[in-house]
Amino acid sequence: MYIIFITHQIIQMAVDVLLGLQWGDEGKGKIVDYLAGNYDIVARFQGGPNAGHTLKFDGKKYVLHIIPSGVFREGIINLIGNGVVIDPVILKKELQGLEAADVDYKKCLLVARKAHLILPTHRLLDKASEAAKGKQKIGSTLKGIGPTYMDKTGRNGLRVGDIFLQNFKEKYEALRNKHLDLLKIYPEIEFDLESLENEWFTSLETLRELPTVNGEYYINNAINAGKKVLAEGAQGSMLDIDFGTYPYVTSSNTITAGVCTGLGIAPSKIGEVIGITKAYCTRVGGGPFPTELNDHMGEELRRIGQEFGATTGRPRRCGWIDLPALRYTIMLNGVTQLVVTKIDVMNDFNEVKAATRYQYEGKTHPHLPYDLDSIEVEPVYEAHEGWNCTLEEVTAFSEFPPALVQYLIALERHLKVPITMVSTGPQRKELVLREAANVSI
Ligand code: GDP
Ligand code: IMO
Ligand code: MG
Repeated sequence: MYIIFITHQIIQMAVDVLLGLQWGDEGKGKIVDYLAGNYDIVARFQGGPNAGHTLKFDGKKYVLHIIPSGVFREGIINLIGNGVVIDPVILKKELQGLEAADVDYKKCLLVARKAHLILPTHRLLDKASEAAKGKQKIGSTLKGIGPTYMDKTGRNGLRVGDIFLQNFKEKYEALRNKHLDLLKIYPEIEFDLESLENEWFTSLETLRELPTVNGEYYINNAINAGKKVLAEGAQGSMLDIDFGTYPYVTSSNTITAGVCTGLGIAPSKIGEVIGITKAYCTRVGGGPFPTELNDHMGEELRRIGQEFGATTGRPRRCGWIDLPALRYTIMLNGVTQLVVTKIDVMNDFNEVKAATRYQYEGKTHPHLPYDLDSIEVEPVYEAHEGWNCTLEEVTAFSEFPPALVQYLIALERHLKVPITMVSTGPQRKELVLREAANVSI
């Protein structure tokens, strides 16, 4: 008699996550564009047109706001997940940009039906609310993000799937009228609702033509079929609605936990968490920024790093890298590997600094206080020798100048996560991979 043993090997396919660990603009778009070829699906899980993700290749520059940064890689599906908020007007403009770049987006772009819609009046409410805050304003991108997520959690929102319903217009009008009433509590702002609505409804037709899916089923079926998924974060962990520098934050969960709610996947499906930090630090908009440099050095970082917002064009505030904040966001996200971007910006500095601890309440601490806004902290810096050379020809870690290697090792020692990639310029190919890194590229 023969006994046949059948072994069932359970293969758990994972969703890798890539997100920003600071206050946004860490270079997520560039890295996602680079890594996308390694995945079957790239999915955005939160945020909306407040994001501006820049990609540079073949002598061209593209800025994506709602569309995932895998869209220029052939054969990859790009999913706008349920956690994203979509402005049809901005989406239409982005799609036109893709058309001009010969990207056949109808084949590679999917929209989750549970993603919420940004109405023209959400944008107006954002503007009026900011105007009412005066000096305390958040510095919102004014894309209607806060009011749209408020309607989502307030259970009033409109979703992409609703645009196919018979009574969509009625639902739209009910919400719009509510917004118009709400606007009366704010200082008056000027607007031409008719023209805003015309533009919005025309753009809605473009959205209607895109393939929509029940994102949660789509993504789980794909995972079960062995597809590889990369979840692309927007904003940064220090802008997270729960853990960021509240109230100077955005209105979504920008951390790894947001991937689960923003795509409909279980926490057990999360694989690698790739956290991105600049070699220094920037912030755009209001709010605390302990390592901000309001001096010549800050101006140099802005000038050399071209630190101007990809969405609003605003100058970004610049400062040294903040390791207490990074330790915090690495903890919140479960980061398994680090990417350091914009290292080239400091090529000519004789000295680079890193804040290793904060001084507050009479002591130095490795951790953040309850609230960076109400507790004044003084960063404690560690100085590192600059490398004083160009990195243009560098293609391997082993070719980095010794002073730069020392700086990277110091960051790893403080952060206790391996640095697997270092970005040395804005172009797609300006990326140096760590030999033997746990990433298959
Ligand atoms: P994202 O929002 O995280 O995708 O980042 P942004 O696109 O808003 O901002 C990053 C900016 O830095 C863009 O202008 C990129 O082209 C640029 N960039 C990305 N990586 C590097 C780098 O390693 N060096 C330099 N000099 N620029 C970079
Ligand atoms: P990416 O994805 C940098 C900031 C705004 C403001 C605050 C709230 O390109 O990294 P919001 O419009 O969300 O109500 O603004 O958050 N902010 C960003 N800063 N990068 C972003 O996105 C940002 N998205 C929002 O400047 O301070
Ligand atoms: Mg950006």
